[in-house]
Amino acid sequence: MSRFILETLDLVTEFTAPKRLLQKPRPGVRAVDGVSLQVRKGEVLGIVGESGSGKSTLAKTILGLYRPTSGSILVDGAETPWRSRRQVRRARGAIQYVHQDPGAALDPWWSIGRTLDEALVIHGNRDGAERTRLIDRMLEAVGLTPAFRNRYPHELSGGQQRRIGIARTLILRPRIVILDEPTSGLDMSVQKTVLTLVHGIRQEFDLTYLFVSHDLSVVRNLCDRVAIMQRGRVVETGETAAIFADPQHDYTRTLLAAAPTLQSGRLKGAKAAV
Ligand SMILES: Nc1ncnc2c1ncn2[C@@H]1O[C@H](COP(=O)(O)OP(=O)(O)OP(=O)(O)O)[C@@H](O)[C@H]1O
Ligand SMILES: [Mg+2]
Repeated sequence: MSRFILETLDLVTEFTAPKRLLQKPRPGVRAVDGVSLQVRKGEVLGIVGESGSGKSTLAKTILGLYRPTSGSILVDGAETPWRSRRQVRRARGAIQYVHQDPGAALDPWWSIGRTLDEALVIHGNRDGAERTRLIDRMLEAVGLTPAFRNRYPHELSGGQQRRIGIARTLILRPRIVILDEPTSGLDMSVQKTVLTLVHGIRQEFDLTYLFVSHDLSVVRNLCDRVAIMQRGRVVETGETAAIFADPQHDYTRTLLAAAPTLQSGRLKGAKAAV
């Protein structure tokens, strides 16, 4: 058994510009540029970096939505090569992703019940009564009620939409959850309740988290270790306390210096929430 639940080795994901007739080929974007990461079971690894640094692309490549240009992804020490999206989804079923924009990830014409049910059907659950039971259990686990099954996305607040995003992930029984900016766009009190939820379900469901965020105060309080990303590369990794106390890389220092809220009461608030 590998020491790591998830590992990436020199992972590269490049987006190539579409070729146009009679035009010179344009250079591609290396959104992920040689990332090697190790994640231990049960830990929360924060992935931090400015907008466009490749955080979401790294997350989606690990999930299997993008085919890596090169490098490998190992789950429990075993390589899961990219053959097709369907095969990768099966091979990496232990990993689930909570979308950066939960509102956009929900179909506006579908009730919450149908959205959650569909997720279970796609993953092969053929037992209707069992699906309803699971859906109700997960709605309760994220602090909502079974009555939410009949609501539509536009009838939910931003915080409730996040909860649905998390419920949809949890019913698939993941071992690793990638949370992409789970608190962005929410006001402080809702951020706190979402973070409390994220923290609580980690223990209840025995989860390992990859926590993508550019909110350093949240990362400091929730993550065991942090990987700092800049232009597709991981420039520094380490225990959260060590990175915050003694950042080694210039870019990390710049990021920390650009986070004035760290010294404010906001940090205390975030701590109370988790
Ligand atoms: N599907 C795509 N096709 C082409 N380029 C893409 C695609 N997705 C992302 N990119 C580019 O890859 C780079 C990294 O984007 P990514 O979304 O991973 O950044 P991010 O760190 O998640 O940013 P943010 O904090 O704003 O969410 C950007 O330059 C972006 O324009
Ligand atoms: Mg992103």
